[in-house]
Amino acid sequence: MNAELVRQHLIDPEICIRCNTCQETCPIDAIEHDARNYVVKFDVCDGCNECIPPCPTGAIDSWRKVTKSKPYTLAEQYAWDSLPAETEPDVGAPGDVPEEVVRITAEATAGTGGPLAPPWSAAHPYVNLYSLARPAVATVSGNYRLTAEDASSDIRHIVLDFGNSAFPVLEGQSIGVIPPGVDANGKPHHVRLYSVASPRNGERPGYNNLALTVKRVVEDHEGKAARGVCSNYLCDLRKGDQVKVVGPYGTSFLMPNHPGSSLMMICTGTGSAPMRAMTERRRRRMALKEGGELMLFFGARAPGELPYFGPLMKLPKDFIDINFAFSRVPGEPKRYVQDRIRERGEKVARMLADPNCYIYVCGLKGMEAGVNEAFADVCRAHGLDWSAVLAGLKAQARFHVETY
Ligand code: FAD
Ligand code: A2P
Repeated sequence: MNAELVRQHLIDPEICIRCNTCQETCPIDAIEHDARNYVVKFDVCDGCNECIPPCPTGAIDSWRKVTKSKPYTLAEQYAWDSLPAETEPDVGAPGDVPEEVVRITAEATAGTGGPLAPPWSAAHPYVNLYSLARPAVATVSGNYRLTAEDASSDIRHIVLDFGNSAFPVLEGQSIGVIPPGVDANGKPHHVRLYSVASPRNGERPGYNNLALTVKRVVEDHEGKAARGVCSNYLCDLRKGDQVKVVGPYGTSFLMPNHPGSSLMMICTGTGSAPMRAMTERRRRRMALKEGGELMLFFGARAPGELPYFGPLMKLPKDFIDINFAFSRVPGEPKRYVQDRIRERGEKVARMLADPNCYIYVCGLKGMEAGVNEAFADVCRAHGLDWSAVLAGLKAQARFHVETY
């Protein structure tokens, strides 16, 4: 019998939070879902692995060895509550298959692509401690508006207390919130992700709590009126309310821990949440004089729209180099973070070349292309080739992007 073994790409239904990221990311529409599960079409998936890094839970990085002619069908995948156990597929009686005939295909053994690597000195993150079937229940201990009263956006600092439930997080990780109620089809709302805005030892040091930076969504990406399910739920919470939380998630967008390491942080709007967590971690350790630099590029419509504007302004200038980019200040030209990156080209080029500098980009999806172009321009002006620099940054786990 001649049976070719391959690894079949699957999604672990126990860990999957049904956030749709994989389906959105897949360039060839190999992923689909029903109300119960996300599944992978065996005959379409070409193992490009583009869906692997964006998956917040790692559920997408699931593989089973199968005979090529007998993969798990979509009907089987839709019916699963958990992945089938790893078994050796039936390849015929021992001895009747020459070793060179039964082979795992090169692409199947070439690794899964896997999640991106964290900085080498990052602390070990815990992930998937709480699932949809067993969420943590947090109590709201504060909900404060961060944007000015007359600002167009309502961005809030929401503090969640986990009481006696262990919920360890690192700066850069995110958590999932389960909004109560059901969608238009009567199905429970899917989980939404929010970056942790506090350092690892808590919003209040020593307390089992963390903060989120949540923007109330009142219009869709095209500017049409839309009431965001989870952001409105969170922004309307009151002290003492209980929230179901899953996670934590994220194994690569983490900060380096070694003395002398520097951070270049580029964000817009609520993309400031992980930057606040990292900056606050460094601020609390300032007295240790561990060295390294912090450089921040922060884009918002106007100062009043910028979360954490007041606290940021109070930070010592020799602690953090802050570069704001305001796009809608009357009488001033529109500026984006990428404009500020170009203006600070000299220092940016130096930091890109510093092996101890780690770069973080978080916020609007649309900023990614602009930030890349700005880095390319800076590199060109300093005799560097951005594509080569970027490849090096990625290989050294020094370039981390989280946009939504
Ligand atoms: P939905 O009910 O899902 O959507 C309502 C409508 O608004 C839809 O048309 C939708 O397309 C559109 N829409 C969705 N999101 C936005 C948006 N951000 N701006 C404008 N229109 C939108 N959000 C935060 O506020 N703070 C965070 O720290 C944060 N961190 C995130 C981290 C990760 C890794 C990811 C993937 C997302 C993060 N988000 C964050 C976005 C968050 O998960 C939700 O997508 C967002 O709050 C909207 O959810 P909703 O239920 O209110 O809107
Ligand atoms: P704009 O005034 O053009 O919308 P928001 O308030 O919607 O969260 O946006 C935060 C900031 O990011 C705003 O200043 C917004 O400018 C800006 N922005 C919008 N698109 C991009 C982009 N492609 N690159 C960088 N910044 C952007």
